[in-house]
This record gives sequence, structure tokens and C-alpha cells, in this order.
Amino acid sequence: MEKLKIALLGLGNVGSGVYKILTTNKKIIEKRSGYEIEVAKILVRNKNKKRNVDVDSSLITTNFEDILNDDEISIVVELIGGENPAKDYILKSLEKKKHIVTANKLLMAKCGTEIFKKAQEIGCVHVCYEASVAGGIPIIQGINEALTGNKIQQVIGILNGTTNYILSEMDTKGMSFEAALKDAKAKGYAEADPTSDIEGFDAVYKLDILTALCFNKKVADDKIFREGITKISKCDIELAKEFGYKIKLLAIGKINDGKLEISVHPAMIPTDHPLANVNGSYNAIMIKGDAVGDLMFYGKGAGDLPTGSAVVGDIISVAKNLNNKPNCLDLFDENDDEILKDFGD
Ligand code: NDP
Ligand code: HSE
Repeated sequence: MEKLKIALLGLGNVGSGVYKILTTNKKIIEKRSGYEIEVAKILVRNKNKKRNVDVDSSLITTNFEDILNDDEISIVVELIGGENPAKDYILKSLEKKKHIVTANKLLMAKCGTEIFKKAQEIGCVHVCYEASVAGGIPIIQGINEALTGNKIQQVIGILNGTTNYILSEMDTKGMSFEAALKDAKAKGYAEADPTSDIEGFDAVYKLDILTALCFNKKVADDKIFREGITKISKCDIELAKEFGYKIKLLAIGKINDGKLEISVHPAMIPTDHPLANVNGSYNAIMIKGDAVGDLMFYGKGAGDLPTGSAVVGDIISVAKNLNNKPNCLDLFDENDDEILKDFGD
């Protein structure tokens, strides 16, 4: 089977998750993509750091040029985070006609237009970013493909796993804000700088991306109303509970009187509302389309494997395109009994 060489930029929480999935699900990924996908190089900051995934040390580099100048690498998977050097690496990779997969919501919200323009100028290169919004929930493809025939009127969601985890732990276990944040960091949900989570920036970036997809309108992220959860006390949560409400950090985009209203802020939600029962690192997004009506997407919004699932999905999607596999003929295989043995029990 032909090899498809890829490079990972970053081997932190998400990078490790991606590597684990590519290794554990190798057979099924080959079957679905038509390629043997090989991680040829991995860029990190610190070569000597202990990793929570078993990786051949010869793959690891601290020099991006090793990846950029390797013409056999077709896909660059950016899992560093932040604006720079991530943007620089993506633009340089596009110039070398490498396809891009990224989980970086900050970058897609702030520089998505520039990145897509570069991709268009180069031509025949893919930029995929499913993991940038809501971790493992396939919301980008959902909106961009399955729902693309709808006029979307409203999108409301819980888009940040860290803050939802903190609010849930404060509510159900009486944990302090600080202890719950520490836990969220340890579980790999929080950003490298968790200010982005707790002050609502991360949810703003995600809402900014969703707004562009739902309403064809890109808004500057600093024009979106934002309030985080740092002012929410245990007392607020208890009081809300007494009156039959839960406090959640909501991201809201809707058309009102022909105008787009977008905001991220904590809100009191009646306990019988579906979003009130989204707990821990889970995210949920409710969408109203003119044709489809009401929809709700629900799942893990952060963490190594859920986010890795979305990243690997993007890698396979690029591979299928390269392999010209527009349909599912080889999945509708009546003779292949071997493959099921790989699924385990
Ligand atoms: P981590 O901080 O865990 O990992 C970042 C990785 O990038 C590390 O391996 C680090 O190297 C490497 N890195 C950082 N800066 C540089 C640099 N200048 N040059 C080379 N390598 C660098 O982040 P996450 O894995 O949690 O997040 C990665 C991306 O995924 C971010 O954009 C984040 O927003 C996004 N994301 C994260 C989710 C999550 O649940 N954590 C969910 C969805 C998206 P080293 O290990 O040597 O320090
Ligand atoms: N820090 C982010 C969160 C990671 O907690 O939701 C997933 O994008």
C-alpha cells in the first residue's frame, strides 16, 4: 500500500492523542484512507521532555526546516497552539504545497482569512480545522457539509470544556474554582495559558469560527461581547440552584431583525433545559436551520483522544481526496471479514 507521510507540529495533549489513534487504529485508517499513514517527523520545543506516548526518538526534531524541506511530507498537522510560530509554519507549509490540519481556534479565528487566501493562491491544498471547535464533536463538517443547504438562524452552545468542567465540579462536588481549574489542567483540557479558557477568549474564538460558517460573516474576535467565569462564586451557583437554574458559559450567535448578535457570557439556564445537563468537559451546540429545524450536537469538547479523533478525521479526509476516493465503494465490501477482528469487543 502506498505511504502518505505526515508531520506533527506539537506532541502535547492533542499531539499525543493523534499519535495514539494513528497507531491503535492503523488498520481501519488504511482501509478508509487508502494509504499507510506514516508520521515521518514530529516538531517539539524540548527534545528531552518525558512524553505520555511511546514515540521513536529519531522522529523528533526541534527544527521546523527539517519538516518544511522534506518533500515527501504531504500533510502538516499543527498542534502547537497560539498565533506564532504556528501561523508562520502553516503559511510556509502551504507555500511548499503541503496540506494543513490544525486544532488551533485562536489562529483560525484571528488569521483564518489570511490562511485561506494563501491556500487559494497556492491552489490544490486543503486546510482542515475540525478540532478547533468543540473537540471531538464533528460540528465544522456538520455545518459545512450536511447542513450547508440551510439558512441558519441561531447557534447556541457550550464551547469550552475547561469552564464547563469547573462550573460542574463547583456545582456537583462543591469544589473550589482553583481546585477545579487545577484538575482541568491536569486532565489536559485547559489551554497552555488557561486565562484564555476562564476569561472566555477560547469560546469567543470558537464562536467566531462558527459564526463565519453559519452566517457567512467573519467578525473580528475583539468585537464579540465577552465575559468569562472568574466572577462566578460557589454562592452564585448555590443560589441559582435554589431557584431551579444552572450557570453555564454560553456562546450565542443569532440573527435578530436582520442583524447578527454574538456574545459569550455566563447565563442562568433552567435545570430542565438540555444545555443545563451538559457536564464536565462535554460541549453541546444547538442549531436552528430553516430547513432542518432544531439540532443538538453533544460530546467531549476537550482532551487528547476526543480532540485527536477530530484531527485524525481531517487527516483521513485529506488522504481520501488525494486518493480520489469520492465514495464508499470499498467500505461496502461483502468479502472482507478480516477487518472486524481489528475492532475488538
Ligand atoms: P500542549 O501545550 O499540550 O502542547 C503543545 C505542543 O506544541 C508541545 O508538544 C510543545 O512542545 C509544542 N510547541 C509549543 N511551542 C512550540 C514551538 N515554538 N516550537 C515547537 N513546538 C512547540 O497543547 P495542546 O495539545 O493542549 O493543544 C494544542 C492545540 O490544540 C492548541 O491550538 C489548542 O488550542 C488546541 N486544542 C486543544 C484541545 C485540548 O483538549 N487540549 C482541544 C481542542 C483544541 P514541548 O512538548 O516540547 O513543550
Ligand atoms: N481549552 C479548550 C477547552 C480545549 O477547554 O475547551 C478544547 O478546545
